[in-house]
Amino acid sequence: MAEPKTNELMEKIVSLCKRRGLVFPSSEIYGGINGFWDYGPLGAELKRNVKDLWWRTMVHHRDDVAGLEATIIMAPEIWRASGHVETFADLMRECPLTKKRVRADQVEAQSGTPILFTGAESKTSGWKIEKNIRVLLRKGEHIETARRKAREFLAIGSTEAQSGDWLQFELKGEIAEGAVVDSIDFHPESGVELGEARPFNLMFKTYVGPVADEDSVAYLRPETAQAIFAQFKNVADTSRQKVPFGIAQVGKAFRNEVTPRNFTFRSREFEQMELEFFIKPDEAIEAITGSVATVPETGHPGEPQANWGWQAWHQYWVEERVRFYEGIGLSRETLGFHRQTPAELAHYARACVDILFKFPFSKRNAQGELIGEELEGIAARSDFDLSQHQRFSGKSMGVFDEELKVAWAKLDETKKASLTQRYFDARLKYLTKTGVELAKAQKQAREDAEGLARGSYVPHVIEPSAGVDRLILALICNAYVEDQAPDEKGKMETRVVMKFHPRIAPYKVAIFPLLKNRPELVRKAMEVRDLLRPHLTVFYDEGGAIGRRYRRQDEAGTPYGITIDFDTLGEKGPELKETVTLRDRDSMKQERVPIAELLPRLLQNIR
Ligand code: GAP
Repeated sequence: MAEPKTNELMEKIVSLCKRRGLVFPSSEIYGGINGFWDYGPLGAELKRNVKDLWWRTMVHHRDDVAGLEATIIMAPEIWRASGHVETFADLMRECPLTKKRVRADQVEAQSGTPILFTGAESKTSGWKIEKNIRVLLRKGEHIETARRKAREFLAIGSTEAQSGDWLQFELKGEIAEGAVVDSIDFHPESGVELGEARPFNLMFKTYVGPVADEDSVAYLRPETAQAIFAQFKNVADTSRQKVPFGIAQVGKAFRNEVTPRNFTFRSREFEQMELEFFIKPDEAIEAITGSVATVPETGHPGEPQANWGWQAWHQYWVEERVRFYEGIGLSRETLGFHRQTPAELAHYARACVDILFKFPFSKRNAQGELIGEELEGIAARSDFDLSQHQRFSGKSMGVFDEELKVAWAKLDETKKASLTQRYFDARLKYLTKTGVELAKAQKQAREDAEGLARGSYVPHVIEPSAGVDRLILALICNAYVEDQAPDEKGKMETRVVMKFHPRIAPYKVAIFPLLKNRPELVRKAMEVRDLLRPHLTVFYDEGGAIGRRYRRQDEAGTPYGITIDFDTLGEKGPELKETVTLRDRDSMKQERVPIAELLPRLLQNIR
């Protein structure tokens, strides 16, 4: 079958999400709210499965990661230390007439003749106004359209008495500027010239307590990561973890995105699954093990080693995360990778690799191949985050490393000097880049370097940061398949099947009694349901023809279907008694399986 076009495919996916209860627009009965989405019965199961699997993989299956669940609203100082208050902003341009904003880097070129209006004068009241507005007269538009916009703009801010007759204003200085231009300076909807690009902070603001003033401002967290840094000491002390170790958190994040788009891809409320994996600075590794390992930039570097510095740990986490995606059905071919260039990297970051998924709406390269959109970023963030919180809170974020202290004492003087100098340089660079005055920075960097010699340092961090909702959308797009299957009468029809990997499928198995009006079949089916239910998510369905029930579960992405029929009851002889048919969603093949073998069989395929 020919592949559906991108938009058509996304429309089908969005419609299936609504029809099958995967994703609904938030507040739909009131017309929805842009950038907010709800998960229906199937979507809630899918999301839960993904988050649980991430938690099991990142926390339960490892000895070196501990969990955290922090609040969404935290002390606002956290966002000053992290830089979000100052710099978490998009550059925006505003239409002076409608006040609608567009991202400065995303304005589409508009074609037309710019017309400059320089003010207006009211014949009846004598009221005058001097301000400029440039309006684009697009092909086919009457000059009066531009005049109307100019008058509306000029009336803004006028008193009621003044603006009462604004329609009668004589426009001044209507200067048509001649040639047709293609310009990115006009708002795509209003056609009015945009204002200067200004930063627009993406954090949602609120007030804590009964007084709504500047002192009570707080923010809904735009990422879960900062709570991990702020609680680093508490977790380290109580979990008895030693560097290298990680802290994981799953939870809501909020960003007042200017242009939420592509279904749930860019939302204003979403969830993140973040790990902050704390490692020793390379200078400490070199002091302890003699040298720092280098590993190839591609491929899994294997089990963690004592001589791994930031580069090996970074590569390790990129590959671990790719394995996770492969383990839930996103093959490497569906993924893309973007290694940030030095110009793209934040000043403190050493490297960042984005794992992309090739969504139907992703951009394409010159060869027409999908490039992909970011699912997760894995960043090597140096010791920036903990250092910032140390500076802003005045509380130490450093750790004491006995192994380093012992190793340091055994180094020769040349090695000590070179490691001290490198550590001093790195700390000085961080301090001066973050605005600490030079003399103060030098003093602090010297103290830090002396601290290293005594076994103390601020840990560096590798951050694999994934978006839950983007992953859910990727899994839905990846699962959506249309194929041909016979209907009740054997005629071929198009079947929509969601080929979710069994690990994350909303329901693992559906149970069908062949006929609902035969109590003995229903009783047996419920027995099988109750046998499996403590171990797997089971969907029981007795309504409608069996073929229709299969189709419903295909659309829901349930990988297995179990039918209890008269053979199960032993009506056709003892050999098939206590067996059921087990149907595979993808191949649609059915086989006879003893009830006693169902659970181990299913668990083996699902885990
Ligand atoms: N702590 C690092 C951090 O937050 P990020 O690249 O801004 O980094 C991490 O976000 C992930 O969160 C992204 O890769 C993406 O999956 C998800 N994400 C970010 N903004 C999002 C949005 N507006 N809607 C849905 N997911 C988003």
